[in-house]
Amino acid sequence: MNDAADEDLHAPVLPGHGASDYERYLRTDELLSLQRPPEERVHHDELLFQTVHQSSELWLKLGTTEVDEAAARLERDEVASAIRLMRRAVLCLQYVTTQLEMLNQMSPWEYHQIRVVLGHGSGFDSPGFRRVPAVTQRVSRGFDRVLERAGLSLPQLYTHGREHEELYQLAELLTEWDERIWVWRFRHYTIVARALGEETIGTQGTPVQVLGKLIAQRQIPKLWDLRSRLVELFDAEQRGSAA
Ligand code: HEM
Repeated sequence: MNDAADEDLHAPVLPGHGASDYERYLRTDELLSLQRPPEERVHHDELLFQTVHQSSELWLKLGTTEVDEAAARLERDEVASAIRLMRRAVLCLQYVTTQLEMLNQMSPWEYHQIRVVLGHGSGFDSPGFRRVPAVTQRVSRGFDRVLERAGLSLPQLYTHGREHEELYQLAELLTEWDERIWVWRFRHYTIVARALGEETIGTQGTPVQVLGKLIAQRQIPKLWDLRSRLVELFDAEQRGSAA
């Protein structure tokens, strides 16, 4: 028998804590101790509440890291690989939005018991969301750069999309990233309204209604202004061909 056959494939070989390499590599002991244990919970639903928030932070960490890396690749003119990363980032925002649904499973009355232990804790201090504007601005600048190198304006890219397929796909992914932030904000707002009502003041003093106003914010406004510009361009072209 050779050495490989002798090897016990169930025995951990990695350094660290945990009975198996799975637990050691993923550090599941630490991860699963990051939620309050049953004896410290003020309400049974605290596990649900912490799970949604903590997993949102993880997906946002991944999503914003990918956008940042996509920006770095655009700075080196690596458009195709930036596209792949943007696709992942968009999926991260989809997951973060979908899991908001779980919060509707808490009753508003029961949520109040959890709310009292949040201190001044507020989503405004979410590390994941706080990273979103900076990485979005960086990738938007990277996009401007590749467009400039291709000698194209944004309307030209959209009116001749098939001739610049890769750049068009990139522009649409940036639009989708921005759209997903918008959709998340809307969904978060309705969940907050359902849990707290629209008249309430948040844990950091922000009226819930202000969250409604934030829905109108766009991270990359030029991608949205472009749509209106295309309407004008199309109308002008129609008038020209009718004349
Ligand atoms: C029942 C669940 C939730 C309630 C009642 C709630 C409530 C609120 C309230 C009242 C605010 C306004 C700021 C303040 O606290 O004064 C806020 C903001 C915010 N919350 Fe939540 N939230 C919930 C779930 C979540 C989740 C799961 C996340 C994900 C990380 C999140 C992220 C944020 C962010 C990023 C903001 C800043 C607003 C923005 O940029 O649009 N919230 N939330």
